[in-house]
Amino acid sequence: MKPVKVGVLGLGTVGGGTVNVLKRNAAEIARRAGREIIITRASAKDLNKVRICDTEGIILSADPMDIINDPEIEIVVELIGGGGVVKDWILKALENGKHVVTANKSLIALHGNEIFAKASEKGVIVAFEAAVAGGIPIIKAIREGLAGNEIEWLAGIINGTGNFILTEMRDKGRDFDDVLAEAQALGYAEADPTFDVEGIDAAHKLTILASIAFGIPLQFDKIYTEGISRITRLDVEYAERLGYRIKHLGIARKTPEGIELRVHPTLIPERRLIANVNGVMNAIVVRGDAVGNTLYYGPGAGAEPTASAVVADIVDVARALTSDPENRVPHLAFQAESLSDILVLHPDNFKTSYYLRLCTEDKPGVLADVTRILADHNISIEAIIQKEALPDETLIPIILLTQITLEKEMNAAIAAIEALDTVNGKVNRIRLETLENK
Ligand code: HSE
Repeated sequence: MKPVKVGVLGLGTVGGGTVNVLKRNAAEIARRAGREIIITRASAKDLNKVRICDTEGIILSADPMDIINDPEIEIVVELIGGGGVVKDWILKALENGKHVVTANKSLIALHGNEIFAKASEKGVIVAFEAAVAGGIPIIKAIREGLAGNEIEWLAGIINGTGNFILTEMRDKGRDFDDVLAEAQALGYAEADPTFDVEGIDAAHKLTILASIAFGIPLQFDKIYTEGISRITRLDVEYAERLGYRIKHLGIARKTPEGIELRVHPTLIPERRLIANVNGVMNAIVVRGDAVGNTLYYGPGAGAEPTASAVVADIVDVARALTSDPENRVPHLAFQAESLSDILVLHPDNFKTSYYLRLCTEDKPGVLADVTRILADHNISIEAIIQKEALPDETLIPIILLTQITLEKEMNAAIAAIEALDTVNGKVNRIRLETLENK
């Protein structure tokens, strides 16, 4: 069979990694795909830049349209990222009958419904394994490996930069900014690193995971998102004393009332495997009704780990080139006409446990006032730590863990606690998940 010709848009970290992996492993890849896969063209903004890859044999151009309009190219690999004109290029490539492989999570999360509709209309594939959790084949695992299950929930560390920052802060006491700068230098962080730190990148990925897990349309705007910038060293230490680790999780859970979609720092029991996923590594626990809990672990960012997922998609597309579009794996795991509009819950209706840290005056009755407010809101306490006041200090920290409660009850209780004269400042609240079989 004649080789499959591929054009790559973008030769940055992931683009460079993809060229290197495809060239280095060309023989193994051809044995798997049943034919050679060659990158014949690539585009880059600055053609004179020093690159991590060898571009020998590849025609370079500054204009992506040279690739999109080349009749020889069968697969366009988009590794530029972001929206705007990139979305137009992808739609144009689909319009031209090209299959598309992309690592662009924001584009899929925000515009995937439109992009998949266009791909279906043209009978071509859009593959996006590299958009979620870097090198972990989580899309394939959920979409194909777990196709016999009803997915009940999933919870994942799906931003490598955030996990790298939390790990370095905990293990080495390093400063937030210092670790973030290192993540940027290593090519892990987004162009705008607030996307990593404030949970937007994780929310893009959770949008995609929830859609393929539950068969719902992509709904980025319905995700509750909270970043890691409020997490203090004190919280990390108290959590550890209570037997927990703080991780930035994306959680999607089907409940009888609707679907919870949330990204936030989370206390998880330290005995869970996922609590011990450190550095830039990602991990996702997926619970299916038949299989139970499954865990997927691996590097969530970086040149070659992400290229590993991109190349796997290219191989998948190469194998499916001659297949009937009707019989391919659906983009979002479920047949497009079977996607269902299950209600996505408002955060008020989330059900979870909580860690609360408050600073109070050291007086009789303070703890009683706090526990009375919690009881009035039907909130049960699971554990409590009250630290003695330091010499010359009149304020003491109280740390509480609660049982599962409705978020709106917790919000009301926190407001009432903060209104007490004896409580100083804000209550620091972090959600807690046991990740048991519920
Ligand atoms: N900025 C992302 C991360 C890159 O740190 O996980 C991979 O999507």
